[in-house]
Amino acid sequence: MQPRTFDYLYFKTHGHSNEEIRQETGLSLEEIEIMEKALRPVLEEIEAERPKAKTIGADFARLTRYIYADKSDQEQGTPRPDAIKARSGEVFALPAVAKLDFGKTSLQDAILQRRSLRKYSDEPLSLQELSFLLYCSSWARDFRSNERMEITLRNVPSAGSRHPIETFVDIRRVTGLKPGLYYYHPIKHCLVLYDESPEIQDQIFEGCFRQEMIQSSAANFIYTAVPYRTCWRYGQRGYRYLYLDAGHIGQNLHLAAEAVSAGACMIGAYLDEAMNEALKIDGSEEFVIYIATVGKK
Ligand SMILES: Cc1cc2nc3c(=O)[nH]c(=O)nc-3n(C[C@H](O)[C@H](O)[C@H](O)COP(=O)(O)O)c2cc1C
Repeated sequence: MQPRTFDYLYFKTHGHSNEEIRQETGLSLEEIEIMEKALRPVLEEIEAERPKAKTIGADFARLTRYIYADKSDQEQGTPRPDAIKARSGEVFALPAVAKLDFGKTSLQDAILQRRSLRKYSDEPLSLQELSFLLYCSSWARDFRSNERMEITLRNVPSAGSRHPIETFVDIRRVTGLKPGLYYYHPIKHCLVLYDESPEIQDQIFEGCFRQEMIQSSAANFIYTAVPYRTCWRYGQRGYRYLYLDAGHIGQNLHLAAEAVSAGACMIGAYLDEAMNEALKIDGSEEFVIYIATVGKK
């Protein structure tokens, strides 16, 4: 779906008139009418689901209580999911974690100094610094695999060590890496070039409601969730844990950024459809759950 289509849907579903949509988006009234016809089934589906959407938060908290759960897939003997979803592409090594040395900032100082930083200097991140940020937030220190269970152990906690969060990095200014979208392999501690098309960085900017920090950052961390990895064990309650797990990753990234004289800002305001499309994921079996910008102070 094109960014302009998202714009139209966003304002339409927020109850704006066609004239207001024209003013907000710069689309002509003719273009708006064409979109309205083409998107009628989508708009009807949204309208049909609106009553459910009004109570979904409270229903989610209530219906994911243990009292409602059946036996999980794990308890029923369904084959285990894999611990990571590896992607293919050109591989870029990262400085080895054993050689990283950014231990100068005390934990207390990192916690006290941390603020959401939305303006960055032009200075790029070094590969060492990027490696350190990934090591602190997404790296797998151990990988255990057998027929019944496959898990990673990381520097952040995760319910049942299911670690359902995958990490992508939108590289803008990192010494030694060409700009583009990379997948981070948490076991091999390397980057896999995922999309180097000229459009990808604009798509991410648009998908994040054009928040300026996306363009001035050195790197944007885009986290996706693979819910079945957790729900295989916990059923629908697993969805609660996805968001909790993502929060731990975000905080470690924030504190790690302090240790390399950088700052971060988390992003929850993004267009799900646009971001899932940018990452070529289906939005259901895998979806974008959290985003963070990082850059030098
Ligand atoms: C879940 C979450 C989503 C957020 N989304 C955004 C965002 O989309 N844009 C933004 O500028 N800041 C965002 N922030 C940053 C908050 O605005 C910020 O943490 C808050 O104002 C407190 O400031 P501090 O982090 O400097 O203490 C988000 C933070 C969290 C935890």
